[in-house]
Amino acid sequence: MPIYQTSTFEVEDATELAELLEFARPGHSYTRYSNPTHAALEDALAELEGGDAALATASGMAAMHAVVLSILEAGDEIVIPRAVYGGMVGLASTVLDRFGIVHHAVDTTDYDAVAAALGPRTRLLWLETISNPTTAVADIAALANLAHERGVLVVVDSTFATPALATPLALGADLVVHSMTKYIGGHSDLMGGAVVGPSALVGPARHVAATVGGNASPFEAFLALRGLKTLALRMERHSSNALAVARALEVAPGVAAVRYPGLPSHPQHELASRMLAGGMAGGMLALELEGGRSHGERFLGRVRVAVHATSLGSVESLVSHPASSSHRQLSDEGLAAAGMSPGTVRVSIGLEDAADLIDDFVAAARPES
Ligand SMILES: Cc1ncc(COP(=O)(O)O)c(C=O)c1O
Repeated sequence: MPIYQTSTFEVEDATELAELLEFARPGHSYTRYSNPTHAALEDALAELEGGDAALATASGMAAMHAVVLSILEAGDEIVIPRAVYGGMVGLASTVLDRFGIVHHAVDTTDYDAVAAALGPRTRLLWLETISNPTTAVADIAALANLAHERGVLVVVDSTFATPALATPLALGADLVVHSMTKYIGGHSDLMGGAVVGPSALVGPARHVAATVGGNASPFEAFLALRGLKTLALRMERHSSNALAVARALEVAPGVAAVRYPGLPSHPQHELASRMLAGGMAGGMLALELEGGRSHGERFLGRVRVAVHATSLGSVESLVSHPASSSHRQLSDEGLAAAGMSPGTVRVSIGLEDAADLIDDFVAAARPES
């Protein structure tokens, strides 16, 4: 698929342009509304997730923003996980709150807690297939049933799982969102997001994204399409590397706890084994070092193969400190409620040689002798 590096498209007459701008006929008018490179990516994403439509956006946050703005209005309520990407907390508490949309953060691994949080004004239940960064796994099928009984829509951020590991629409979710910046792009070289689901829900999100300018650029759409071609292969290697590293770190000196859904010690290991495809559990793990924050920081400074940088889902292993980066929006109490400590380290396992990664991480975790 070539990169249609153009902002505008020639039309025959004013009627055609007016109809294109209203999405009332197929074709392209202006790249903020649509572009053939976006359309190719959207078709591929819809097929992979099993939805009938998809929208490519400028970032994962743009996708999340388009979804919530297309569904919620003042007076509505949204239930979000306590363990969730910090950007969702930021969106809910600094943007939605100002427009009269109330959010409730609950432990979405606790069915009864979610049932109690869904009130008469709740319109949306937000889930992550595997949570950032604590790797909590939500029971999408059970929670979607519960939400639908209450007339609540379910949106699943499946960035950590990707369609290679899970297809939340098939489990009952109404919409799936992704940060394509992560595994779908896969090489730390693009920003992008996606919304996938039925046209009746993706269409309104497209209108919001077109209106507020949240669409992807043609070049990034091209890179995301190229990333999709190797996604399945990369996810296999991310998952096998992460399992090997998680097993080694679980018994390594200096490590207090490893959270990885592929380990039997993970609280939702059984659910993850059932819900995630091919025995894979993805490439993300969360670490608690003995000695707390100072040892977490020391670990970040010690790694040599992995890179200390924010973001995740790339060919190279990345380590970061959620309390000062992805989850800086949370207080110490908020971190605790989300299952983190100020010393939690997030590890995104790349495609390097597993033995090199194990040596690197075990050495970085080792207490000073
Ligand atoms: C789970 C999850 N969702 C959404 C986002 C936001 O994506 P982006 O940075 O592409 O806006 C991120 C970014 O880290 C993420 O980890």
